[in-house]
Amino acid sequence: MPADAAARISALRQSIAEHNRRYYLEDSPSISDAEFDALFAELQRLEEQHPQLRTADSPTQRVGAPPAHAFAPLAHRVPMLSLNNAFDEDEVRAFDRRARDKLDVDQITYFCEPKFDGLAINLVYENGWFKRGATRGDGYRGEDVSANLRTIRTLPLKLAAAPNLAPNLLEVRGEVLMLKKDFAALNRRHQENEGRAFVNARNAAAGALRQLDPKLTAARPLTFFAYGIGAAEGIGLPTTQCALLDLLASMQFPVAAQRERVVGVDSLLAYHSKMAAQRAELPFDIDGVVYKINDFAQQQALGYVSRAPRFAVAHKYPAEQAITKVLDIVVQVGRTGTLTPVAKLHPVFVGGVTVTKATLHNEDEVRRKDVRPGDTVIVRRAGDVIPEVVSVDITKRQDGREFVMPAACPVCGSKVERIAGEAASRCSGNLVCPAQRKQAILHFASRRAMDIEGLGEKLVDQLVATGAVKTPADLYALNMATLIALDRMAEKSAQNLIDAVGKSKTPSLPRFFHALGIFGVGEEVARILAQYFGNVDAFLAADWETLIEEKKAIQKENTKRTKSGAEKLPVPLPGVGKEIVESIGAFLSQAANREVITQLRDRGVRIDAHSSGRISQSEQALAGTTFVLTGTLPTLTREDVKARIIAAGGKVAGSVSHKTNFVVAGADAGSKLDLARELEVPILDEDTLLKIIGGEQSA
Ligand code: IVH
Repeated sequence: MPADAAARISALRQSIAEHNRRYYLEDSPSISDAEFDALFAELQRLEEQHPQLRTADSPTQRVGAPPAHAFAPLAHRVPMLSLNNAFDEDEVRAFDRRARDKLDVDQITYFCEPKFDGLAINLVYENGWFKRGATRGDGYRGEDVSANLRTIRTLPLKLAAAPNLAPNLLEVRGEVLMLKKDFAALNRRHQENEGRAFVNARNAAAGALRQLDPKLTAARPLTFFAYGIGAAEGIGLPTTQCALLDLLASMQFPVAAQRERVVGVDSLLAYHSKMAAQRAELPFDIDGVVYKINDFAQQQALGYVSRAPRFAVAHKYPAEQAITKVLDIVVQVGRTGTLTPVAKLHPVFVGGVTVTKATLHNEDEVRRKDVRPGDTVIVRRAGDVIPEVVSVDITKRQDGREFVMPAACPVCGSKVERIAGEAASRCSGNLVCPAQRKQAILHFASRRAMDIEGLGEKLVDQLVATGAVKTPADLYALNMATLIALDRMAEKSAQNLIDAVGKSKTPSLPRFFHALGIFGVGEEVARILAQYFGNVDAFLAADWETLIEEKKAIQKENTKRTKSGAEKLPVPLPGVGKEIVESIGAFLSQAANREVITQLRDRGVRIDAHSSGRISQSEQALAGTTFVLTGTLPTLTREDVKARIIAAGGKVAGSVSHKTNFVVAGADAGSKLDLARELEVPILDEDTLLKIIGGEQSA
């Protein structure tokens, strides 16, 4: 039994080490946290049952020390120095030039490493075992945080070298840090429990390492990366930094995968750019890169100035996060009408630029982060992304009011709608909102809407900038004089535009509905609307709230009927969701939008479901729609109905199938009606059919 236990214990220890490596170093865990905890618990249980099998390097021995009252001071055998910084290319070139001059060489081989944004630590190994470790402190003596360091799962408790080959003494130096993913999780908990967030992973790591109770440190997962050594006795050392890191890696110390040996100063700068591009995706924070002369003999020849080596330099990146104050929260309206809350900030230098505002994305985000005017916040700007507010320090809150999304658009005063299930709030003044003007006009004129040839972005820019066009209706009031006054507009092109506008005056009903630019109303929905309403007046007269209620009630009823196997009822506006119906309702609730439609008609736009002329077959109201007739209709004969459907571009088939779009049913309908119900084909009566075809379809 103990033999079995010993084998299992050894397998568990190996497996735990492997999963730690995958999680912390490769960023690719293959088991869940719960599964990991189960392995760990099993090992603990076995070691309890067989105490003789417990060893000091078992992962269970990482948390054991009782809470301390304070950290004891610990002197470093070899001082822990710091690095000089370089902030730009010139400073890096100057560093390289000085080193080449002093060494009297043409070119230097360097070793490049990420500059980890964590805390410098010295680990002391005696005869192959981890004995103690300390923070950098003042460089000569730091604080003994051994008990906390033991909790770091990637920190070897025993050197991987064979015991008889282990050095009597080895000091390994590196950085303790918290991975971004662990920081995010910890910060979420911290914000919930304490109402405040850590500024960054570095501060969180520092807090974790300075816990007097190692159990608390263990609950805030840290990791470690080695980048050098201090004192060493009884070990033959390599002659280059490159070989040293390979040696440390072979002893199971985590070392940066992003390390690189390069030649010449240009390669240093290339490394800096390459890491900058990777920075946002790295699993840990870096605040720069470090260049070290690779050869230790050359390092020694260069020596030190005051407390920093001449053979190494840190090439820094601008900080990605900063603390500042929210002056105000304003709402911006985008070109498609989306309202975005934006925090106006006290100017702060972050990510290499001065930032004065940061996006708060949407109403839910403001609520979630609870950002208020006057708050002290952490702002983040990484790479090219828009600056954003990460979190609020509510302990510094004065008296800021909670943010509420305005009910009216701050630009045009139209109603603000928030579509169910979506985070975005939108201005419903599509046709009249100055913020949406350009977009609305471009969309209105586009090829698949009103198709006004030659009305491109540059021209719309000018028309809007000069105030000649404020709404799509103004396009139909343009005259030669206004157009010729524009930049690069000759008489001929002005005339062409006027002709193109004139030609667009007889759109099909679906094109017209699409051109209005109502959120959610694309070509397909526009076609369904045209079929359902048949003309603009019916569309304008619709009671959208009732329609939503009706749709809801029928859908609910149909769900019941599906369960009981009963016939389903036809749904009004089939395929158009409640959200879109709400959006149309909001659009039409704005008198200003309706006014534009009236103006369009006043200025000669004739919207006609049947209009021939430039309307092709495929754009007719019933294009691509197949009907099946059954039963006797109240006023029309079968032949009549058939002729009307065909005139509107539709087809009439003899039998119901999945391809049937609608069944038109009258009195004494037969099996076709039953089949239509079974296949859930919408069923129309004569009245509705006529509406769809457009009885009085001209606008
Ligand atoms: S080498 C003589 N390599 O940067 C000092 N330091 O400003 C040798 N750091 O205190 C340090 N990543 O905490 C070195 N790859 C790296 C580093 C690194 C981060 C930190 C370290 C040090 C500080 C120096």
